[in-house]
Amino acid sequence: MDHLEEIRGRIGIEELVGSYVQLKKAGKSLKGLCPFHSEKTPSFIVSPDKGIAWCFGCHQGGDIFKFTQLVENVNFAEAVKILAQKTGVKLPERMPLIANQRLKTIEINEVASQFYQKKLEENPKMKDYFLNRGLTNETIQKFRLGYAPDSFDQLKNHLTEKHYDRKDLIEAAVVSQRSIADQSTYDRFRNRLMFPIFDHQDNPVAFSGRIVGQGEPKYINSPETPAYSKSLILYALNWAKESIKQKNVAIFMEGYMDVIAAHQAGTTNAVATCGTALTPQQLKLIQRYTKNIIFCFDGDGAGKEATFRAIELAQSSDVNLSVIQVPEGKDPDECIQKNPAAWQKAVENPISVMDFYFDQATKKFETQTVQGKKQVLDFLLPFIKTAKSEMEQNIYIHRLSLMLQTDPKLLWNDLRNLKSHKSHAQPVSEATIKTHSFTREEYLLGFIFSHPEIYPEIDKGLILTIPVDPDTERFYIALKTVYTRTSSIELAQIKEVFTEEDRERVEVLGLLVDEEYPDFSEENRMREVKKLIREINRKNLFNTQKEVEYKIRLSQDPAEKKSLLNHYNEILKLTLKI
Ligand code: CTP
Ligand code: MN
Repeated sequence: MDHLEEIRGRIGIEELVGSYVQLKKAGKSLKGLCPFHSEKTPSFIVSPDKGIAWCFGCHQGGDIFKFTQLVENVNFAEAVKILAQKTGVKLPERMPLIANQRLKTIEINEVASQFYQKKLEENPKMKDYFLNRGLTNETIQKFRLGYAPDSFDQLKNHLTEKHYDRKDLIEAAVVSQRSIADQSTYDRFRNRLMFPIFDHQDNPVAFSGRIVGQGEPKYINSPETPAYSKSLILYALNWAKESIKQKNVAIFMEGYMDVIAAHQAGTTNAVATCGTALTPQQLKLIQRYTKNIIFCFDGDGAGKEATFRAIELAQSSDVNLSVIQVPEGKDPDECIQKNPAAWQKAVENPISVMDFYFDQATKKFETQTVQGKKQVLDFLLPFIKTAKSEMEQNIYIHRLSLMLQTDPKLLWNDLRNLKSHKSHAQPVSEATIKTHSFTREEYLLGFIFSHPEIYPEIDKGLILTIPVDPDTERFYIALKTVYTRTSSIELAQIKEVFTEEDRERVEVLGLLVDEEYPDFSEENRMREVKKLIREINRKNLFNTQKEVEYKIRLSQDPAEKKSLLNHYNEILKLTLKI
């Protein structure tokens, strides 16, 4: 990596870009016409301070290496060669695996996984945990289950002995940095039962560690790393893909133990979303293997909700959906252990999505009262509206009329008057209508990155301390963590905890604010920041309110309903305050 630093030291971003683009000075930075898209007014900004060039028109750019990649249309290694030549830096004959942080992370995970496996073998008490939950030795081997010892440095020492770099271990997230002041590291997973997570090509990309017995948090997961994007991975797809192709159907579950128990019981086409909502990318990934999907989420309220959401997401794709309702116990794992016969029967008889909706409607609402009938209609009609043909709609309307003892003609009327399919669950979110402009959360991050000293104000001001915006969430989490630990925010140190790509985003957002609010007085800046906080609060509260409303509608448990109503009232109170 020294060569890269040497190259960086010999050529500034302004000099490099200047050899391709005519640049004019504009305050602290330079401006020119973007080399990546055609434009008449310059939106291409070069910041010698931050060492990056960025186009605010087409959103491309980066440091000297990235810029060269883009402008010369070459990969990273070739860009390094070009710049080495330009600057007269001599590269070694055989270049080490440059830029392959992803491969490095995978290699480190592989070593770590073997370490955890070995520790499980050495620790019969921990192994008993898995055996007592009905797993066989063979299953434990196959899924490479392990144990992270109750120690802050056993894994770290093991990896260091093997000459892995401190920085690479942090990047792979098997260790964490102690604090900003103290840069020493410690093992991320301690005294936990380990589930290595593989991508569909069998690369170990992350870990999840379960607490031994009861307690919170139940699972600790690897954060995003160069090898791991949570939204792209389906757990166990590496073991399930052949079976999915062969059976031409995939079963989606929630948890690790569910999938593992299912495989052991012969349901080898099961994968897990790992406790998050199904993502569009996961849906796309599975379609490489099959178009037939069965959702088999937990039997509780949250599981039902996950099923509704997954169905809504998948409806617009070209896939065939059905549902397995777990017959006994709260999740597939429990059912398999308690009553394998019931499990086999359920797996062989998935129900249609429409049957699932009708079934849920009768469970949730009274079908004989006026109020209840109205609720059933609100719940089912939007869904019936999405049916592909009028014939199908006809069948469902008929069924609905029998259920509610109403004239089908009236129901047809209601159906036609229904504007278009409105999503049951998804609150309006800016993130889904993504344009090329920046979101409020990004602007606010920009202010933090260009003026870290304002962070305490933001920490105080945000009602949900972490804005619910998937694209910026991890930045806010990192900031919050650092701030809680050290009561201050310093930029250089924050960057330490981010990946290469995220670091670039930090620079770009800082640059955005520098550019859009040049020579802003402190007073003006605070006014702008407060306005952003207010707007973000309002949006988050609105979304949370919708979400809680939806949960209240779904809830069948009076105690849960009551606590949801309390939560709802609290949100309303907060909304009135801002
Ligand atoms: N999960 C998580 N973090 C948590 C809780 C859950 O990532 N703090 C994810 C895990 O992928 C977990 C899944 O959500 O497997 C389902 O959660 P849950 O039903 O609570 O756990 P189980 O998988 O049933 O685990 P177990 O049977 O061991 O209790
Ligand atoms: Mn479980």
